[in-house]
Amino acid sequence: MDKLRVINAKTSNRDYKILINPGLCAQVPEILEDTLRGFEKIYLITDITILSIYKDTINEFLEKCGKPYRIFTLKQGEEQKNIDNVKKIYEDMLDFNLHRNDIVIAFGGGVVGDIAAFAASTFHRGIKLLQFPTTLVAQVDSSIGGKTAVNINNVKNAAGTFYQPHLIIIDPLFLNTLPEREIINGMAEVIKYGAVFNKNILPDLKKVAVSFKSGSLLKSIVSDIRFYEIIYKCCRLKAMAVKKDEYDTGFRNLLNFGHTFGHALEKETGLDLLNHGQAVAYGMLMAADASIMLNIAKAGLKKKLTDIYMLLKIPEKLPLNVFCQSINKTGNNGNKQISRDLAAAGTVQSMSFDKKFSSKSNKFILLRDTGRPVFVYNPDRDILIEAIKNNITGE
Ligand code: NAD
Ligand code: GLY
Repeated sequence: MDKLRVINAKTSNRDYKILINPGLCAQVPEILEDTLRGFEKIYLITDITILSIYKDTINEFLEKCGKPYRIFTLKQGEEQKNIDNVKKIYEDMLDFNLHRNDIVIAFGGGVVGDIAAFAASTFHRGIKLLQFPTTLVAQVDSSIGGKTAVNINNVKNAAGTFYQPHLIIIDPLFLNTLPEREIINGMAEVIKYGAVFNKNILPDLKKVAVSFKSGSLLKSIVSDIRFYEIIYKCCRLKAMAVKKDEYDTGFRNLLNFGHTFGHALEKETGLDLLNHGQAVAYGMLMAADASIMLNIAKAGLKKKLTDIYMLLKIPEKLPLNVFCQSINKTGNNGNKQISRDLAAAGTVQSMSFDKKFSSKSNKFILLRDTGRPVFVYNPDRDILIEAIKNNITGE
């Protein structure tokens, strides 16, 4: 990527820019002056891990802005996305005497982005918001589109608002410090865009992967200049989906490909044994198998996905013992084993929590081919079970 990429995101309440370029962080002060004029203070929300790596960088650009600023630091992790922390943020914002025209910067991954945006959307009924995503998940997905959220009593995203940011700044250089596990999380979303919308994302990703020489494959991919163009493509697709269906009533559901299976797998295996991205990665293969078994797609669809998984070394088969570990973790079950049939049946049962399901209709996103998504309602339960079992390994 040799020049600044600009996406003009359009929504019913606000049009805003998504700026993408390596090294963009250094230009934050000028960009803020140009785009979010009239602010007097800056309130930056981040987490402790990000602050420990980027403290100097953050302080440097905040100092350069020449305005009073304050940094609110969350501990790291999903459980920090809670309403108690929102209250702490409100109290701190009041103490700092933040006004509607001032700026909140969400500087971090999706956890920071979701909670900071929730606080920004409700404090004084809405304060200016800059999303500065630092994980791959946040750069290609969560920072764009205005979904804000906190978890309530372990129910994910139980409370939230739709509140579009005023600006998004994406600096892919921040991906250089991401642990591999977090890269896989984001890579699953990148593959999802390729599966649902095509746009040559999977072939482009292959080109980057095959030129890998040494060190960590995933780290080398996210630091490759050609990968920044893939991020740009994903952001354009997300902005397009949000423009078509801001409130997620139809078209935007397509972004959930693989997530119906993936969320159910996360639930069945206990949230800490399987990370979200890996669960979505298995979920996309299960959705591909279901598409093939329902005669919606040809057999080649699955291979298109597994080829890229193999290249990126993303596991294709979920070990059965992950389900067993999950049941044995709780209660006094001894060392209980379950079969693939039971694991798959439990996963189908857990799908009932999917937000796209209603009492009468279970909505799935399946594929005719890459780039040819289709909504399928109430597919046969036995087919779902077979599709899940196909992707579980072990006895
Ligand atoms: P995260 O925010 O927890 O970040 C993952 C880890 O990476 C954290 O430990 C963080 O401290 C660390 N980290 C962040 N940036 C780093 C960097 N540059 N270098 C090193 N470490 C870094 O997780 P995530 O995957 O970014 O986001 C997941 C959250 O996003 C979930 O809560 C999910 O519900 C939400 N989400 C929201 C949307 C949306 O549309 N709003 C979409 C997808 C996901
Ligand atoms: N991450 C899915 C959405 O924003 O709709």
